[in-house]
Amino acid sequence: MIRDFFYYNPVKIVFGEGKLNEAGTYAQAYGKKAVIVTTGNFFKESGLVDRLQKILKVSGIDSLHFPDVDPNPLNTQIDKGAALAKAAGCDMVIGLGGGSAIDAAKGMAIVLGHGKPIWNFCIGENVETISAKTFPIIAITTTSGTGSECTQWAVITNKETAEKPGIGADFTFAKVAIIDPELMASMPPKITAATGFDTLAHSIEAYTAVLSTPITDMFCEEAIRLCGKYLRRAVKNGKDREARNGMAFANSLAGISISVGIVTLCHGLAHSIGGVAGTTHGETLAAMTPATMRFSMKSNPDKYKNITMFLRDEYCTADRYKVEDSIDDVKTLIRDLDLDVPLSKQGLKEKDIEKAADGVINYMGGSITNDPSMPKREDIINIIKQSF
Ligand SMILES: NC(=O)c1ccc[n+]([C@@H]2O[C@H](COP(=O)([O-])OP(=O)(O)OC[C@H]3O[C@@H](n4cnc5c(N)ncnc54)[C@H](O)[C@@H]3O)[C@@H](O)[C@H]2O)c1
Ligand SMILES: [Fe+2]
Repeated sequence: MIRDFFYYNPVKIVFGEGKLNEAGTYAQAYGKKAVIVTTGNFFKESGLVDRLQKILKVSGIDSLHFPDVDPNPLNTQIDKGAALAKAAGCDMVIGLGGGSAIDAAKGMAIVLGHGKPIWNFCIGENVETISAKTFPIIAITTTSGTGSECTQWAVITNKETAEKPGIGADFTFAKVAIIDPELMASMPPKITAATGFDTLAHSIEAYTAVLSTPITDMFCEEAIRLCGKYLRRAVKNGKDREARNGMAFANSLAGISISVGIVTLCHGLAHSIGGVAGTTHGETLAAMTPATMRFSMKSNPDKYKNITMFLRDEYCTADRYKVEDSIDDVKTLIRDLDLDVPLSKQGLKEKDIEKAADGVINYMGGSITNDPSMPKREDIINIIKQSF
């Protein structure tokens, strides 16, 4: 019997090699002047920003480039970019890059629409509601990792408070997501590995979450299969078109899944540790996924057995596996991807372990209630220690 569920994802998805060329055709419904957001000048130097500006121009869209965004975008950078875009008369925001550029674009769209600093919409008792005033967002992903092009989430870091919450609303979904695997070919192996592991973590977490649905389960199953089949290949040879294509699809399937099924404890921890120690999202997830899986698997053994079957791209009855097999397979993948780096080597200090645990409880509580094993504070501290 099909269980009750709620599902919503309004993103128009344009997928395929060369689809960047269609960006103007899709964007012209939403505005006349775009601010293009990137993390640094890499895409300016590679010619991608100029190429996009020309494509937009053909459809009558003017644009300006805002490159001053760090990986793990800061609230202050988002406010600055929105002020520049406002002064230039921009009426839509295009994120061109990985999750950081796309999330910064979402943040700027909120600020432009509401005329208030982004942190007002992030944390606190008086947190403001994100409304339909949010400017239109177009997401062009160049990593296969966060799935941000298909989610409503924007992850924003505040250096002053050392917090990194995820925010989002129905109005922060991109109007259009362009997923062009050709744009991912320039990712070096380290970024391919870290971002690809993020995709796998999204798929495992949304699949085993309290809020999982029959629709997102199908997407997660396929995303896990694609990660098992293609992530090693994409890391080994970035020019492997089939592998890039498979990971690009996995990325978006997993993104759609976390827009509905949301994430669980491992992501809550990755946000909090990222805020405290400025770590790289995918690397932090890799350090903690085995311990969080071990903690959570008891509450969902059948799904954990299935994860093994999907990762091995097998079709059989999952009863032939032990629940722990999924953890062993994920650990092997982590080693093969060179992501086997404990949190202590990623910059987390021992004195900050409790602070990191409290961050999850204080502002990523949804990741705890969405985890069927309902971890308590001491469980969270233990998981960090096991991954330290
Ligand atoms: N919005 C969401 O749903 C969501 C989900 C998970 C994570 N996140 C957040 O997204 C951020 C991470 O995003 P990410 O993992 O995509 O990495 P990123 O956007 O931070 O990019 C990492 C680095 O790779 C570079 N890069 C991107 N594409 C490239 C390419 N094709 N070739 C060469 N270099 C390239 C970037 O310029 C940057 O220096 C974190 O802040 C994380 O918390 C968001
Ligand atoms: Fe993630």
